Amino acid sequence: MKFFVDTADVAEIKVLAESGLLDGVTTNPSLVAKSGRKMRDVIAEICALVPGPVSAEVAATEYEGMLAEARVLREIARNVTIKVPLTPDGLRACRKLTGDGAMVNVTLCFSSAQALLAAKAGATFVSPFVGRLDDIGESGMGLIADIMTIFRQYPYLKTEVLVASVRSPMHVVEAARLGAHVATVPPAVLRQLFAHPLTDKGLAAFLADWAKTGQRIV
Ligand code: G3P
Repeated sequence: MKFFVDTADVAEIKVLAESGLLDGVTTNPSLVAKSGRKMRDVIAEICALVPGPVSAEVAATEYEGMLAEARVLREIARNVTIKVPLTPDGLRACRKLTGDGAMVNVTLCFSSAQALLAAKAGATFVSPFVGRLDDIGESGMGLIADIMTIFRQYPYLKTEVLVASVRSPMHVVEAARLGAHVATVPPAVLRQLFAHPLTDKGLAAFLADWAKTGQRIV
């Protein structure tokens, strides 16, 4: 399973990239706004840090505008992935952009029917938002299970399921259990993946015993 980080915070991405765990990055207009920086600068810096796909979202809502913005975004770096919304214009732009050789991430997916449309439009990734479905009392992971079942019926569909709006380590584990291709995870949740109280307790005990030996390895 690939791990992407869901942030436009370049300092966070730098640290996480050094861990060797990052396969890509996703951003969205809200995350760029939160960074307080120019989108072009942020995306360029992220692309230089992470060689994998870096999603940059269009702000236009109609087909021609999306293509014009995609042209600008694709010039930033080779690994820019164009993120388009799951709308009729977004899917039309997806088909055109993938035909031109771009990677495309279709975002704001909340149903299996929408995921199927994204796959039929040739999306590189489709992003179902699990946390936002949980927020309204629906089952985010239930949607992932359903999409994975559907995509497995049609092995020729190459679209990867990118689990987005991840809120907890359990979302990541459950996504992996279901065979989702990618999880895009906020930095705080990525850090939580490392944590277990028995790891901390065990390490403290090992270090205390080691100190008693008076030895050094180097
Ligand atoms: O980038 C898309 C998605 O991951 C947003 O997550 O937490 O705003 O629902 P969230």
